Amino acid sequence: MASYKIALLDGDGIGPEIMTEAVKVLELVSSRNDVEFELLHAPFGASAYFSHGQSFPEETKAICDQADAIIKGPIGLSHEESKKIPVDEQPERGALLPLRRRYDTFANFRPVSLPRGLAHFSPLKAEIIGDGIDFIIIRELVGGLYFGNKETGVNEAGKRYVKESLEYDEDQIARIAKVAFETAQKRKKVLHNIHKSNVLKSSVLWNEVMEEVGKDYPEVEIKHILVDAAATYLCLNPGQFDVMVMENMFGDILSDQGGGILGSLGLMPSACMGPEKAYYEPSHGSAPDIAGQGIANPYSMIGSVAMMLEMSFGMEEEAKKVWHAMQSVFADGYSTPDLKGAASDAKLINTTDFGNRVVTALKNA
Ligand code: NAD
Ligand code: IPM
Ligand code: MN
Repeated sequence: MASYKIALLDGDGIGPEIMTEAVKVLELVSSRNDVEFELLHAPFGASAYFSHGQSFPEETKAICDQADAIIKGPIGLSHEESKKIPVDEQPERGALLPLRRRYDTFANFRPVSLPRGLAHFSPLKAEIIGDGIDFIIIRELVGGLYFGNKETGVNEAGKRYVKESLEYDEDQIARIAKVAFETAQKRKKVLHNIHKSNVLKSSVLWNEVMEEVGKDYPEVEIKHILVDAAATYLCLNPGQFDVMVMENMFGDILSDQGGGILGSLGLMPSACMGPEKAYYEPSHGSAPDIAGQGIANPYSMIGSVAMMLEMSFGMEEEAKKVWHAMQSVFADGYSTPDLKGAASDAKLINTTDFGNRVVTALKNA
């Protein structure tokens, strides 16, 4: 029997609520397949800072190091609450970026997908959506502004200043380009490269390397689109996209817009792949505005489990069943409250109920 260790980082806000539902799915998948999951919960995020004095404690690093894959809930506090933690220990800088750096998870897959039957969740008009929405954002995750040099101080004129640099070298660009071309090759053979080369030198190098790597994938057509225009096309004609690739910051922003056109960030799972280790997390944050109410949509978290089953453990069929089970709950007329586009007669259900219904649907799949 295959046996895998999975580190579970519950995180903050709605993190523990949606993690509970993801664990139910993991337990069912294990019980009906020839696979054993050893689930290792570990503190991470603001909650870990308050309980352990660090947002990414040493014990959590050790658990993650030995895990075959990591499932992570969202971390972070509200704007006001964040101020209770020193800037460098805040969980975004103190835990999440170090996690990405530790495992060099450079390739972040953020699928933006809404089957036709669920198109009513989207704020976009039916004629714009057509057959549904289905594209994937591939975001470079360990370079750019996030990890470049940072400097703050007071300049000669006595003014406070800040300097942050957007850094990439050609190897960093080439490895994400390769992932993007390979993904496009397996899908519709069109790759949209999102950039800002009319202003940023980083984008000039980025585009050059994209073209060079593209020579190894002659079947894939590369289309270059400026990031500002891409934001508009995502609203006006998302159907033109299949695989999109972009640097870290652009990917952060456009992937949340992806959640917007689906109707909720709660529909956004993701996979963060490194050379040796991968971790899986919702694309969204800890949703302090609804935390503790039991109404968060666990689709993003359960979807992240489905991505892990496929991408870390090769359990593609089981992953498909998880997606179908979640979509069948919506198709049966149930909806979590974040999906404002739900039909007016939608039966609103909470986090636990959604998770339980997914498990029931999965048992019958
Ligand atoms: P957010 O993504 O937490 O929330 C934005 C909106 O989406 C809110 O209205 C929220 O209720 C809603 N939402 C998000 N996920 C949902 C879900 N599963 N079900 C229902 N509704 C959902 O963004 P924010 O409020 O700007 O950030 C809150 C905190 O999260 C910040 O501290 C931020 O730094 C952090 N954050 C963490 C991650 C991460 O851990 N990867 C990602 C993004 C933001
Ligand atoms: C995301 C988040 C993070 C990011 C934050 C919390 C550091 O917004 O995963 O999209 O900007 O990468
Ligand atoms: Mn983000």
